[in-house]
Amino acid sequence: MKDNFQDWTRANQSRIEASLDNLLPAANISPKRLHNAMRFSVIGGGKRIRPLLAFAAGEISEAKEERVTIVAVAVELIHAYSLVHDDLPCMDDDVLRRGKPACHIEYNEATALLVGDSLQSLAFQLLSESCLADTPRIQLNMINNLAQAAGSCGMAGGQAFDLDSVGKELNLQELEFMHVHKTGALIRSAIMMGACCGKNMSALQLKNLDNFAKYIGLAFQVVDDVLDTEATTATLGKTAGKDADNNKPTYVSILGVKKARELAEKLRQNAYQELETFGKAATRLRQLTDYIIQRES
Ligand code: IPE
Ligand code: IPE
Ligand code: MG
Ligand code: MG
Ligand code: MG
Repeated sequence: MKDNFQDWTRANQSRIEASLDNLLPAANISPKRLHNAMRFSVIGGGKRIRPLLAFAAGEISEAKEERVTIVAVAVELIHAYSLVHDDLPCMDDDVLRRGKPACHIEYNEATALLVGDSLQSLAFQLLSESCLADTPRIQLNMINNLAQAAGSCGMAGGQAFDLDSVGKELNLQELEFMHVHKTGALIRSAIMMGACCGKNMSALQLKNLDNFAKYIGLAFQVVDDVLDTEATTATLGKTAGKDADNNKPTYVSILGVKKARELAEKLRQNAYQELETFGKAATRLRQLTDYIIQRES
C-alpha cells in the first residue's frame, strides 16, 4: 500500500479513467452521436470521489482490485447520468459541467436524456457481467443496493424532493432528508458495494461502515452547498451561485455559511467515530473524509 494519499488518489483515478474509457462503447460504434455524448459526459472530468470511496472501502475487506474497479465504474456511470439530467432546463438549467458545456448544450436535450438512460443501463449491465463477490447472493445484494440507491427511494427521489422544494423554506429535517437522498444514497452505495467485494464482514462492521457512509454522504452535499456560494465558477467547473439563482433551499440558505461549515465538521467527527473499529485498514476512508470536508471544488 502506498503511504502517500496523493499517490494513492492519482493511481486510482488513472485506473478508473482507463476503465471508463475501455468499458464505455467506442465513439465509432453506432449510434455514434449517442456514444460520443456518453463519452463526453463521463471521460476526463470530475473528482471521481465515489470510485475513490469504493476503493477505500474495499481496503477494509481486502477486496480484489479488479472487482472494486467494476463497482467504481458502475457508480461513476450512475453519478454522471445524474449530473447530465440535473443540468437539463427542466431541472437546474445549468450550462456548464466539469469545465465543459453541459451535455444538452454540447448536443441537445433529447441526446442528454438518452445519455442518462444509457449510462444507467450500462452500469447495471457491467455489474451483472463479471464475478464481483464471493457468492452470487452477495453480488445480487450489491446490485439491489445500487438499484435502490439510484431510484425513487434514493437519488431520483431526492432530486424530486429538490425540485419540489424550489422557493420553499425547508426545516432542517426536510433539508437533511433531501440531501441524504439526492447525494447521500449513491455515496453510501459506493462504500457498501466496495466493501462487499471482499471478505465477509460482521453485521456490526457493516453497520459501522453504513453509518460512516451516511455521515459523509450528507457532509458531501453540505459542502457542495457551501462551495456553491463561496467558490468561483472557474474553480468549480460549474456555475457558482446557482442555488440562490434557482431559489433552492440549501444548508447555506437555512443556516448560513458558518453554521453549515460547523455542521460539516460535526459530521466529520461522527464519521471518524464509526471507523474506530477498523483501525489502520480505514486510513484511506479517513483521508477521503478529510478531503470531502476540506475540498475547494
Ligand atoms: C456534484 O458531485 C453533484 C453532487 C451530488 C453534489 P461531485 O462534486 O462529485 O461532481 P464531480 O463528479 O466531481 O464532477
Ligand atoms: C445534485 O445536486 C445531486 C444530483 C445530481 C443527484 P446539485 O444540483 O447541488 O449538484 P450540482 O451543484 O449541480 O453539481
Ligand atoms: Mg440539482
Ligand atoms: Mg445542479
Ligand atoms: Mg450543488
